[in-house]
Amino acid sequence: MTLTPPDLHVPALEAAIAPGLDAVEALLHRSVAGSRDLVDDLTAHLAQAGGKRIRPLLTLVCAQLGSPELALSDQVIAAATAMELTHIASLYHDDVMDSAPTRRGVPSAQHLWGNNRAILAGDILFARASRLIATLGSESVAHHSRTFERLCLGQLNETFGPRPGDDPVDFYVQVLADKTGSLLSAAAHFGAYHAHAPREYAQVVADFGEKVGVAFQIADDVLDLVSSGETSGKTPGTDLREGVDTLPVLLLRRHASEGTLDAEGRAILSDLEGDLDSDEALASVVERLRTHGVVAETRGMARGWALAAVESLDPLPEGEPRTALISFARLMVERVA
Ligand code: IPE
Ligand code: IPE
Ligand code: MG
Ligand code: MG
Repeated sequence: MTLTPPDLHVPALEAAIAPGLDAVEALLHRSVAGSRDLVDDLTAHLAQAGGKRIRPLLTLVCAQLGSPELALSDQVIAAATAMELTHIASLYHDDVMDSAPTRRGVPSAQHLWGNNRAILAGDILFARASRLIATLGSESVAHHSRTFERLCLGQLNETFGPRPGDDPVDFYVQVLADKTGSLLSAAAHFGAYHAHAPREYAQVVADFGEKVGVAFQIADDVLDLVSSGETSGKTPGTDLREGVDTLPVLLLRRHASEGTLDAEGRAILSDLEGDLDSDEALASVVERLRTHGVVAETRGMARGWALAAVESLDPLPEGEPRTALISFARLMVERVA
């Protein structure tokens, strides 16, 4: 499957960054190989399978806020590539954690090579991302390591769940900010920072990336229910089968605890407690959940976060980079409109 970067409807800017996307692609493919053949097959597996490349896209768009001669500099390309490498590495690990059979339209690495090798491949890709970031100076190394730490904390907290007394929905949003918002925030920041945009702009786009990341991940929860495997490249219902309570389920539980859940919602919750190992059982609960009102409520939350992301762009000057970022935010949630 080849998932291409989304169209931002800003043709001049997209033409300006197109050579940057090509350069990222070339550096990415060099970065996922370079060991012996059997290892390269494993570490190149997901980069070769495709992907939307939204993190490097965000870096390149935000670099347009800086000096024109630095917008496609080696530093910006290294940062953009490191963002995709960090993301891909997290996907190798995530597919182990979620026992996901497919990713980017191909069998997941753990499905083909087993857990041990998939985990080590993710580690190698993290190491290669770090090597690229090391060329950008110690401030960027610290930023990248903090991002990586937050990503892992988000993944870990998702497994531990909230503490007694925490609001489960608020806790979950913090998980999303950590596991997904952090990397989109870094991707945006690195673009502006390494193209020497004003410091204030780098901070603005970092805030934007964080919020748009939450919107994107909430939309991903809806996609897990409403998409076909062909469009998402993933297996629908994977989260439900693994007992990962994504936002629609958390909202069902919230309504249940408030005593406002309808009979259909209560029936879905009871099905979720049951055995979802068979494909029929999973398909049936996915079907029932996708038509329940909590899915519209989840979409509404995704739109709310996208809107907050767009509002955070107010300090940026009018112009193509800002327009492109607004399109970017819209596209993140339009996937589930
Ligand atoms: C998938 O990210 C994992 C999430 C953080 C939701 P993407 O939807 O960006 O995946 P690819 O890179 O296009 O495969
Ligand atoms: C993706 O998380 C991995 C990270 C954000 C680190 P999910 O498990 O929520 O996303 P998909 O649905 O597998 O892409
Ligand atoms: Mg997953
Ligand atoms: Mg996961």
